[in-house]
Amino acid sequence: MARKFFVGGNWKCNGRTEEVKKIVATLNEGLVPASDIVDVVVSPPFVFLPLVKSLLRSDFHVAAQNCWVKKGGAYTGEVSAEMLVDLEIPWVILGHSERRLLLNESKEFVGDKVAYALSKGLKVIACVGETLEQRESGSTLDIVAAQTKAIADRVSDWTNIVIAYEPVWAIGTGKVATPVQAQEVHAELREWLKVNTSPEVAATVRIIYGGSVNGANSKELAAQPDVDGFLVGGASLKPEFIDIINSAT
Ligand code: G3H
Repeated sequence: MARKFFVGGNWKCNGRTEEVKKIVATLNEGLVPASDIVDVVVSPPFVFLPLVKSLLRSDFHVAAQNCWVKKGGAYTGEVSAEMLVDLEIPWVILGHSERRLLLNESKEFVGDKVAYALSKGLKVIACVGETLEQRESGSTLDIVAAQTKAIADRVSDWTNIVIAYEPVWAIGTGKVATPVQAQEVHAELREWLKVNTSPEVAATVRIIYGGSVNGANSKELAAQPDVDGFLVGGASLKPEFIDIINSAT
């Protein structure tokens, strides 16, 4: 079964109101394939979500970059899944390596967040990926499988999950994974899903790649059979994001 291409733009902790408006204006003018060919989801910082949602073309969608692990309450600084649903934000990115590494989010905590967000009706971009040290010690698949297992242990319906494979060594470094490296991990992860969830989940879940994707390298990566799209950081703030979306065809 064909998997619909998916391109996410993670703006991380970037932007001021005027810059945000400019990025959205560029996106709104971009010529891209129809929404039955590619899902496009952009993820501004929390504070800009309502503004971006109100200005963004209707065939693109928005995602939050995180949400709390359970119902809201006395959790200073957090934003709950219920709040995102209330604002009609359809997607959330969870388990990004910047949060796993800088904020010590464990794989179990990320798994709990994914399960909770899904239970409230959000769609989840769940990030997994190994550090350079882990890759060099030959444990890439073990790491990626363990991070995915923490989700699989808590979730049975994968319909609303997109997995983003983001090798930490490729994020923001300009050192993109080669198409062969990306394909290898995506195929191994799909095989892991086949054995540990179901053949149907393995065949249908989208596994997207993230890490120094740009307008010049996206086409070749997109041609890999198990690369179903991208999660883009730095280049999602630039006009070349439109070129990346166009690598869907
Ligand atoms: O979420 C996006 C990734 O962290 C990739 O970031 O494209 O700036 O390397 P990057």
